[in-house]
Amino acid sequence: MYKYYFYCYFNNIVIRLTNNNLNRIKMTDVNVIINEKIEKFGKERQALMPILQGIVADKNYITEDELLEVAKALDLSGAEVFGTATFYTFLEVKPLGKYVIRVCKTISCHMSGKDEIIHTLENTLGIKLGETTPDKKFTLKQANCMGWCHKGPVMLINDEVYPELTPEKAIAIIQEYSSKK
Ligand code: FES
Repeated sequence: MYKYYFYCYFNNIVIRLTNNNLNRIKMTDVNVIINEKIEKFGKERQALMPILQGIVADKNYITEDELLEVAKALDLSGAEVFGTATFYTFLEVKPLGKYVIRVCKTISCHMSGKDEIIHTLENTLGIKLGETTPDKKFTLKQANCMGWCHKGPVMLINDEVYPELTPEKAIAIIQEYSSKK
């Protein structure tokens, strides 16, 4: 399907966020990621987002201990690092399923039926918004506008965008992912 990129403005620089490779369970030592990013961006606050993104890309969420490691490495307070990590939708601080479904909750998708899509997904997966299936395969979440407003309702599964959803289409997509290993 489509690649999804989310642009955000942070410290006067534009950062391209993507949840690419969320299902890659390589788990590099967090200090390796921190050192790589510090080498590239310097030991300044501007390295914070690239470090957090790097950790999430590696193993899909950031633990409290890792946040403290980041704070120590950049000489920032734990509260500042935690605040940044929890502010951005795509920087997760809790373990997620292998496939993270994010349904757009913003106005155009709301008007074009995102609630029906969410109910369909909840029924199909047997979980509520914010929950992960017992087999850890799917997490269901909402997210803000993904820039596909003219083709709502829209959802992301990891870094794939699925526009113009209907309940039937949503069920078929979930079935397709369910059959993947
Ligand atoms: S409002 Fe849903 S993609 Fe923009």
